[in-house]
Amino acid sequence: MNIKIIRSVKELVEYRDTLKGKVGLVPTMGALHLGHMSLVDQAVKDNDYVIVSTFVNPTQFGAGEDFDSYPRTEKEDVALLEEHHATAVFIPKASDMYPEGYNSWVEVFDVTQKLEGACRPTHFKGVTTVVNKLFNLTRADNAYFGQKDAQQVAVIKKMVRDLNIHVNIVVMPIVREDSGLARSSRNTYLSADEKKAALILSKTIKLAESEWAKGEKDADVLKAKMIKNLETEPLASVDYVAINHWDDLEEIKTIEAPTLVSMAVRIGATRLIDNTILK
Ligand code: PAJ
Repeated sequence: MNIKIIRSVKELVEYRDTLKGKVGLVPTMGALHLGHMSLVDQAVKDNDYVIVSTFVNPTQFGAGEDFDSYPRTEKEDVALLEEHHATAVFIPKASDMYPEGYNSWVEVFDVTQKLEGACRPTHFKGVTTVVNKLFNLTRADNAYFGQKDAQQVAVIKKMVRDLNIHVNIVVMPIVREDSGLARSSRNTYLSADEKKAALILSKTIKLAESEWAKGEKDADVLKAKMIKNLETEPLASVDYVAINHWDDLEEIKTIEAPTLVSMAVRIGATRLIDNTILK
C-alpha cells in the first residue's frame, strides 16, 4: 500500500472525511529516527489509519533558535513511514498552517513556565497551538507522544483535560542508541567528539536511577550529585537539572514516586534534553 502524501490543510480535511475507523495521529517535525518510529509502530497497532505530520512548526522556535538549520529530510521520512505502514503523511507549508493574518493561540499556563519553558519562554505556546490544530484537522482517536519530551507530554495532557478535547494521549518510552544517548533529530548537529561527550546525559540519568534505587530520596542531594557528574564532562554546560512531580511538574523536596528527573545540557552549541521517571 502506498502512503498518501498530503500537502495542504484542505486536502487533509477532505481525506479525513473519507476515513471510517480509528485514526491515530503522530505529530512530528520530521527528520525521523527510531524514536519517532516507535510512536508510529504503536499507532499502527492501535488504529485503522495512522496520520503522521512532519511539520517543522515555526511558532515553537524562539528568536535565535535553530528553526533555519533544523534538519529537513522529507524523502527519507516518507520512505521510512511507508516502510512502517503509516497510512498518510501530512507535510503542510507554514503559510498554509499560519496564513496571512493568523492570530489565534492556545496557551497552557503554570506547567509551561518551568524547565523548558523557563529557558524557551514562547516554545510551548507554539507547541500547544499547532498540536491543537492537528487534533482539529485529524479528529484523531489516539495521539502519540514520546516521554523524551516529558514536559511536552504534561502540557498536552493538561491542554486536553482543560479544553475537553476528545483524544486519547498515548505516551511511549524514550528510545536510545546502544550507547545510551537518547535519539533526537538534533543529534545530527553533534561532531564525533561531541557525540561521545553527550553520553554524560544518559550516564547521569543512570546515576540518578541507581542513587534512587539505593534509597536517595532528597531531591537537592540527588540534583547536586547529578550536576557534579555532568560537570566532569568538559564539553557540557548545564542549563538545568530538575526534580518534579510527574505529571503536574510541581517542584519536590522529597522523592516519592512518580517523579520526573530531567535535564537540559549544552554540548558545544547543541542543546540536548534527557529524563527518567522514577516509579
Ligand atoms: P519532534 O521533536 O519531531 O518529536 C515528535 C515526537 O517524537 C514527540 O512526541 C517526541 O517526544 C517523540 N520522540 C522524539 N525522540 C524520541 C525518542 N528518542 N524516544 C521516544 N520518542 C521520541 O516534539 C515535537 O516534534 C514537536 O514539538 C511536535 C509535538 C511535533 C509539535 O510541533
